[in-house]
Amino acid sequence: MGEMARRISKTDVGELIKVLNEAYAEEWLAYYQYFLGAKLAVGPMRPNVVEEFEEHARQEYEHADMLADRIIELGGTPVLNPDDFSKLAKCKYEPPLNEDTLSLVKQNLDSERCAIGRYQGICDLTFGKDYQTFKVAAHILKEEIEHEQEMEDFLKDMNVSEKKSDRI
Ligand SMILES: [Fe+2]
Ligand SMILES: [Fe+2]
Ligand SMILES: [Fe+2]
Repeated sequence: MGEMARRISKTDVGELIKVLNEAYAEEWLAYYQYFLGAKLAVGPMRPNVVEEFEEHARQEYEHADMLADRIIELGGTPVLNPDDFSKLAKCKYEPPLNEDTLSLVKQNLDSERCAIGRYQGICDLTFGKDYQTFKVAAHILKEEIEHEQEMEDFLKDMNVSEKKSDRI
């Protein structure tokens, strides 16, 4: 971490790096969930769902990229071993055991809601204390909120209320 950058930080940097690494692990799992979902999807609205999943996979990858850069700027090291992704992640990977678009959308909706909580938490932790990390977290939060909305829109377009989709 640059000397001035260290001096201006009003957070517990060690704790912040730990939280950013949890989010970093979650982004790789989110990337893979969308990546694989796009490959396997069958059923209603498949072309639209695949297109959206591919876009979201790219965005989750960009989130991982931004987090890795910020962890390094803070003097930390991004998770070295992918074996640790599942252990560190609070937002869990949901294997696409059911390849139906409806089931995949529902799984990703759960993940997006977890991600929104994650970045709201990092914003709370850094607001007024670490503007650069706050900016990164706020940018990602905005995109996770868009992702949630788009998954909800798919459920509406499929004429599925969320209650009904819970039974899948
Ligand atoms: Fe999208
Ligand atoms: Fe993300
Ligand atoms: Fe997302």
